Amino acid sequence: MEQANFVRIFEVGPRDGLQNEKNPLTPQLKAELVNRLAAAGLRHIESGSFVSPKWVPQMANSDEVFQLIERRGGTIYSALTPNLKGYQLARAAQADEVAVFAAASETFSQKNINCSIEESLDRFRPLMEAAQQDGIPVRGYISCVLGCPYEGAVDPSRVAELAASLIAMGCYEVSLGDTIGVGTPNKAARLIQAVSGLVDTKRLAVHFHDTYGQAIANIYACLEEGVRCVDSSVAGLGGCPYAPGAGGNVATEDVVYLLQGCGYETGVDLNLLSECGHWISLQLNRPTGSKVATALNGQCARQ
Ligand code: HMG
Ligand code: MG
Repeated sequence: MEQANFVRIFEVGPRDGLQNEKNPLTPQLKAELVNRLAAAGLRHIESGSFVSPKWVPQMANSDEVFQLIERRGGTIYSALTPNLKGYQLARAAQADEVAVFAAASETFSQKNINCSIEESLDRFRPLMEAAQQDGIPVRGYISCVLGCPYEGAVDPSRVAELAASLIAMGCYEVSLGDTIGVGTPNKAARLIQAVSGLVDTKRLAVHFHDTYGQAIANIYACLEEGVRCVDSSVAGLGGCPYAPGAGGNVATEDVVYLLQGCGYETGVDLNLLSECGHWISLQLNRPTGSKVATALNGQCARQ
């Protein structure tokens, strides 16, 4: 049984991070990234995405990535799937778990998955049925929970209703995505309060992009509201191809440092994780997006 002070980190770097990189990595390098993350103690790794390759070419080799991963006992390798076709491809690749993704804004839903919010739920239903028959857990994402790049402010009650629909449909957990990173702590806390009115907080995860540098503060606010699952991306990789200008996900290294400092258990080895972040940044020829990894690399004294 998990300890009361355990916070589950849901690593999305190999999917959310790499889906937005201009120069796609080889499946071998992607699989090595997943293996290094698992070696650092991450137990939930979104390792690829089975979406249309015309829409997100960076994820086109996800089946090869899944084949190349060295599976580690106790680690869940999951995949993003927008519809039944994606689910079938993910199953063929032996993904342990899948995730469907909806949006709290109609315009973003159209831009990202080419259908309305209601239509997206209809597309998920056959996927949910198949997953239930196969015993495959399904996670749900909601994008634009604290703002939409096309519609602006988003009503928390709308997010709450959508989260409740995803849970009613069979998702074991709903991850609330601040896709464009515009949230601030008070708004994030109010969102959790609103959604918790319809969905048990234990079934909520938070997914912050760090465009405005607020992600760590927002995560702290959500921990105070009782959230115990946080999505993040090693080295702060990431963005969304259908949210222009959106920054990367909050860096996993920074989240681990925050959690350790606040007395939470994560099971993650920060030094190994930081090495992994430097390694992937080198492969992508870009600096790490993690402040903590930068500090550790500079041997800045830790308190
Ligand atoms: P569509 O064009 O409306 O779909 O796209 P369609 O059913 O008409 O199919 C068109 C073509 O795509 C067909 O091929 C299908 O077979 C193929 P064709 O006959 O033209 O050769 N197709 C597929 N191929 C592979 N895998 C599939 C699949 N489905 C259809 N699963 C669709 C609709 C949903 C497919 C498309 O809009 C799509 O793939 N969108 C994905 C967009 C995406 O991946 N966005 C980034 C992830 S979401 C995100 O990052 C947010 C998140 O991180 C949380 C947050 O930060 O907020 C999760
Ligand atoms: Mg995201």
